Amino acid sequence: ARRVKLAPSLLACDFTRLGEELGQVAGADWAHVDVMDGLFVPNISFGLPILAAARRASALFMDVHLMIERPERYLRDFAEAGADGLTVHVEATAHLHRAVGMIRELGKRAGVTLNPGTSLETLRPVLADVDLVLVMSVNPGFGGQKFIPQSLERVRLLRGWLDELGSAAELQVDGGVTPHNARLLAEAGATNLVAGSSVFGPDGAAAGLARLREALT
Ligand code: DX5
Ligand code: ZN
Repeated sequence: ARRVKLAPSLLACDFTRLGEELGQVAGADWAHVDVMDGLFVPNISFGLPILAAARRASALFMDVHLMIERPERYLRDFAEAGADGLTVHVEATAHLHRAVGMIRELGKRAGVTLNPGTSLETLRPVLADVDLVLVMSVNPGFGGQKFIPQSLERVRLLRGWLDELGSAAELQVDGGVTPHNARLLAEAGATNLVAGSSVFGPDGAAAGLARLREALT
């Protein structure tokens, strides 16, 4: 089986110790950065200055998940603040194809995603042009929610579509990922798992990350 990348979500970390928390997960593959605008999702998280601080504190790949309306307005700013990859929601833009092109033109890895209630067909037209497809396995907006079981079938379907295209795009899953479902997700074809609350637990993020890695071996 392929090695699955792990992307701890900073949303669940202790922001007073951002640098140390990033140090705890230095053995991860990516750092997942959740940007929420209070419009696209019913919550506000953080934005450009926090991404820039994370960028200064860590050499990890900065995987920026934009839960904001009309993300094309801010792609350049997030790229300049240190994003390595930018993921946009199909529901948040009338111009998904253009947004993907803009991310590529900025020299960053382009990701697309969709809410649990959105048809997978909405992604099909851009599938050949993206570096990452993210299956949301909770309704975006908050950490610590329960994994929606139907997401597993969505991962399997997308795995099939990407394989048909011969695409090497990452197939990422975000929301409610734990040591209990990580292996199942990998077997369904996921290559990249985001985890917030199951990594940044009371015994420290290094231990949380190790538990997740252990579940995958
Ligand atoms: C949810 C965010 C997730 C969140 C995951 O809107 O996109 O990245 O941080 O948190 P957990 O792993 O706790 O479900
Ligand atoms: Zn996320």
